[in-house]
Amino acid sequence: MADEKTTGTEVSEAQIAVHWKEEEYYEPPVSFIAQANMTDEDVLERFGEQNFPNCFKEYADMLDWYEYWHTLLDESNPPFWKWFVGGKLNACYNCVDRHLPKYKNKAALHFVPEPEGEPILHMTYQELYRRVNEFAALLKDFCGLKRGDTVTLHMPMILELPIVMLACARIGVIHSQVFSGFSGKACADRIVDAKSKVLITADAYYRGGNLIDHKEKADIAVAEAEKDGQHVEKVLIWQRYPGKYSAKTPLVEGRDFIVNDILPRYYHQIVEPERMNAEDTLFLMYTSGTTGKPKGAQHSTGGYMAYVTGTSKWIQDIHPEDVYWCMADIGWITGHSYIVYGPLALAASSVIFEGVPTHPDAGRPWRVAEELDVNIFHTSPTAIRALRRVGPDEPAKYNYSFKHMTTVGEPIEPEVWRWYYNVVGKKKAVIVDTWWQTETGGFLCSTIPALHKMKPGSAGPGVPGIYPEILDDNGDPLPRGSNKAGNIVIRNPWPGRMLTIWGDDERFLNQYYARYNKDRNSKDWHDWPYFAGDGAVEAPDGYFRILGRIDDVINVAGHRLGTKELESASLLVPEVAEAAVVPVPDPIKGHRPHVFVSLKPGIQPDPAIQQKVSDTLAKEIGPIAKPGKVWIVPDMPKTRSGKIMRRVLAAIAAGKDPGDVTTLANPQVVDEIKKQA
Ligand code: WTA
Repeated sequence: MADEKTTGTEVSEAQIAVHWKEEEYYEPPVSFIAQANMTDEDVLERFGEQNFPNCFKEYADMLDWYEYWHTLLDESNPPFWKWFVGGKLNACYNCVDRHLPKYKNKAALHFVPEPEGEPILHMTYQELYRRVNEFAALLKDFCGLKRGDTVTLHMPMILELPIVMLACARIGVIHSQVFSGFSGKACADRIVDAKSKVLITADAYYRGGNLIDHKEKADIAVAEAEKDGQHVEKVLIWQRYPGKYSAKTPLVEGRDFIVNDILPRYYHQIVEPERMNAEDTLFLMYTSGTTGKPKGAQHSTGGYMAYVTGTSKWIQDIHPEDVYWCMADIGWITGHSYIVYGPLALAASSVIFEGVPTHPDAGRPWRVAEELDVNIFHTSPTAIRALRRVGPDEPAKYNYSFKHMTTVGEPIEPEVWRWYYNVVGKKKAVIVDTWWQTETGGFLCSTIPALHKMKPGSAGPGVPGIYPEILDDNGDPLPRGSNKAGNIVIRNPWPGRMLTIWGDDERFLNQYYARYNKDRNSKDWHDWPYFAGDGAVEAPDGYFRILGRIDDVINVAGHRLGTKELESASLLVPEVAEAAVVPVPDPIKGHRPHVFVSLKPGIQPDPAIQQKVSDTLAKEIGPIAKPGKVWIVPDMPKTRSGKIMRRVLAAIAAGKDPGDVTTLANPQVVDEIKKQA
């Protein structure tokens, strides 16, 4: 099946590539270059292959270390490379304590509530320091958590989320934040995998004008985790309105605790930061992969912090005096690396926005930008497409000025890029299109904003110290700059890459390295290209254009959903015999899943079943997984060996010609399915 998928995607994506015209370049504005952190062309040489891996010392030196490392890169056990071995540091210290002498009275975080009538909250570095310390004291004393333990967070976009993350980092507790839009069940799966005894959540948050009861998901999560053998001892609940409980769900005696009731016991307490080893785990971030079970990407302290700090400085161009707004959710890797750890390590003021960008109208983001005088803006193509559709003229109405804008998470169409550049950026901002993944910790491909020209729709070359290449299915490199589609790999190790998949080294090796590694015993990193799972083309100028996933992952609004996860959730509907999920292009979200189901014998097609499938996906995974359409089909198109031909289904769902289907075991079913289109 993997082969079918791969071929199917490659054919269609490659065709798209052929029809692309080369886009024109845009020069970075002179005003941007004049103030940029990285303007020195030498950096390309310094981070060139001849200086690998020593180049990454520059990133490590942006951090404060308790003990300096002795070995830059331990290559003894590929692909489990270790960076900055012997080094000791603390991520929280680097994001908070070290800024106090110079910046204690400067805003670290701005919290923008969704309701516009509520004031924006500004938290200085000094206050962040105090809040983090008292919560760290609570975690240690009240929850009994200690270095190396895990804790699961299921927190919405509120100010307390980075406080909790930093408090965990301070005492060496591994945090695993689950996107708040995920269901209680999805949270439970992650609690079980991480073996967390403590769940940290919130009573409620605003989304699209409604105050949503979030605590009810905690009850489901704890109950479901219990069924799978993981007992959650304590649930800590932050209040959206301190002092007031905003959820309807009652508290469970002895298990649920309102943080604001307990916290006064720890006022004024200061907790010494743990001196973590560089390769100790900082956090887990679960992501979808090719098999059903989400993978816990396990990120390190030293390598990760060095990498996100370096890339935040050079690619995001963050200075301490900048007001930086990344509109992603902290529940995704983008939020961890480029709302919390990277920007705070550089003493920036980072904005946390609770709401939906188009609520109450598409002017909201630009009002926030004006109000806070945001000068660096970071969002996804999905958000840009939505804002462009609903409010194409809104940005012009507001008096804000961006120097720098980022796009991340999906390919951006050149037309949409140009609206972002002309209308949102008012032709004054530089744009970086950053390609990377949960697994990679930080950016892989992007232009260096003051040094490279921009090209709409292309991420750009590898960022400093990253050497990408396009391989064919046999592992042979395509000629450089050939504009031919293939699999993009990163040839070398880099400090931001995850250590492994939590609890599953074998899966880590198989997923990312087995595909192109020819000699498992080789100690030479050249034999271990990192397989990203994306198709891409490289243009003659060395810019990479990312085509999308080649595996069973659907990118919905920049978020990864595994087709297998969606299919197994669909099978929970009792009437369903078989399910197949395919990605279908969507004008706003990039792609949406369509679900094809066949029914058990004797059961008649019924719209109620379609509804059930849709509701089940929302309940099991979250509203983000709601299908664009549920198709009830008499049978799945299958090969003679019985494999479902998802490629055929994907073509029908997209209104395209499924091509030659005569080799199928049941070609007649294709026409029957087409009738429903
Ligand atoms: C896709 C998000 C095109 C890609 C940071 C990748 C992109 C997956 C881009 C990772 C981009 C991310 N252009 N595609 N600039 N950035 N992707 O783990 O398919 O949520 O493999 O990390 O998103 O998604 P993830």
